[in-house]
Amino acid sequence: MVKKKIENICNRQIEREGYSSNLYLAMASWAENNGLTGVASWLYAQADEEKMHMLKFIKYVNERGGKAVIPALKKPGTDYKNVVEMFKEVLKHEEFITASINEIVTLTLDEKDYNTHNFLQWFVTEQVEEEASVRTILDKLNLIGKNNMYQFDRDIMSFRSPVTDAPANA
Ligand SMILES: [Fe+2]
Ligand SMILES: [Fe+2]
Repeated sequence: MVKKKIENICNRQIEREGYSSNLYLAMASWAENNGLTGVASWLYAQADEEKMHMLKFIKYVNERGGKAVIPALKKPGTDYKNVVEMFKEVLKHEEFITASINEIVTLTLDEKDYNTHNFLQWFVTEQVEEEASVRTILDKLNLIGKNNMYQFDRDIMSFRSPVTDAPANA
């Protein structure tokens, strides 16, 4: 049975992954409204992955005898200045999520919860990839320049790495 402290911090992460999904949906919707269909596809796919991350935590908490709580999510912004600023925000958010995962890892060691520690390793690896893929996008944007979005929008889906794992039992 999972300890209360671990259950609580996993529930906090359920909220954060859910918010990540909503944030990327909001960005996708903005991109779609601005004719950036490639960027929108990338963000919709990203939103799906974040929902899958949320599901992984929900299923894990319940499997360990805890209670996963489905949270209300705060409303993400609806307007973004431009694609570069938006992806800078994506990177900042992913760095926040990495720190959040690392905090749970630290707690599992303090609490000697090696099952949860093991469960988290997939997320530790995933965050390295998430940050790297957004940094690649920012590098490309830097090369292309802010005003040449046509080519970038056409090519962005080819920068995506394949999804490495599906959630257990999902
Ligand atoms: Fe995530
Ligand atoms: Fe992410």
